[in-house]
Amino acid sequence: MVDSVLRVDGIQKSFGGLRAVNDVSFSASRGELLGLIGPNGAGKTTIFNMVSGIYRTDSGQIFFDGTDITNRHPTRIARWGIARTFQVPRTFNNMTLEENIRVALLQVNIVDAEATRQACAVLDEVGLYAKRHQNASELSGGERQLLQFVRAAVTRPRLMMLDEPFAGSSPGAIDCMVERTVALSRSGVTCLVISHDIVSLPRVCERVVVLLDGAVLTQGKLEDVREDPKVIEAYLGE
Ligand SMILES: Nc1ncnc2c1ncn2[C@@H]1O[C@H](COP(=O)(O)OP(=O)(O)O)[C@@H](O)[C@H]1O
Ligand SMILES: [Mg+2]
Repeated sequence: MVDSVLRVDGIQKSFGGLRAVNDVSFSASRGELLGLIGPNGAGKTTIFNMVSGIYRTDSGQIFFDGTDITNRHPTRIARWGIARTFQVPRTFNNMTLEENIRVALLQVNIVDAEATRQACAVLDEVGLYAKRHQNASELSGGERQLLQFVRAAVTRPRLMMLDEPFAGSSPGAIDCMVERTVALSRSGVTCLVISHDIVSLPRVCERVVVLLDGAVLTQGKLEDVREDPKVIEAYLGE
């Protein structure tokens, strides 16, 4: 598919005897909001770890904008324009919120006064401006989700991958991430969202890939997939 920004082709990953990801293929086009759903242990985070270069892919290929990025170094993949968040938020907890954003901006060579300006602007947009001089350790779980979200977004990625962004977040933080994810997609950024949150997910995703035991169970429009007996059974069996 020519217009796919991300194309995952038959990827596999095993941990010892456990095949965590088994021959998974899907693609996402420019500006698309694609959901990755499935019960715990289905392989969703492992797929993110392979796309972002944190885990080596045993076989299969990952293409970004037509370039094979399989098993490239995570720093290189990030430079290409792929940003992600983590299920358990990763922030620099002994640094202030502003410093957290500045470290992210440094990756895209934004420094000094411009970095301060942009850091203050994004913190203001997500309601964290008043806490800009506090350490990230003082934030709630939801606020740390927001912080890692904006740290990823300020690098101006072309692919944004969000791992359970709504889990443990307050309704306000969820609204903020939903709005900003939709805005990113409207500006042409492809977004991949892992979520169990069946209330928030339809606000961001139209199409989903459903995973079960490391394999794609089905993919399609969220409203169709939800009615699929195979999907209902997979979730009931959890
Ligand atoms: N680093 C690892 N070492 C061993 N097993 C792992 C590792 N990462 C994930 N797994 C296993 O792979 C399977 C898929 O995990 P994961 O991708 O985290 O699932 P999900 O994100 O869908 O809940 C699980 O059985 C998990 O225990
Ligand atoms: Mg996970």
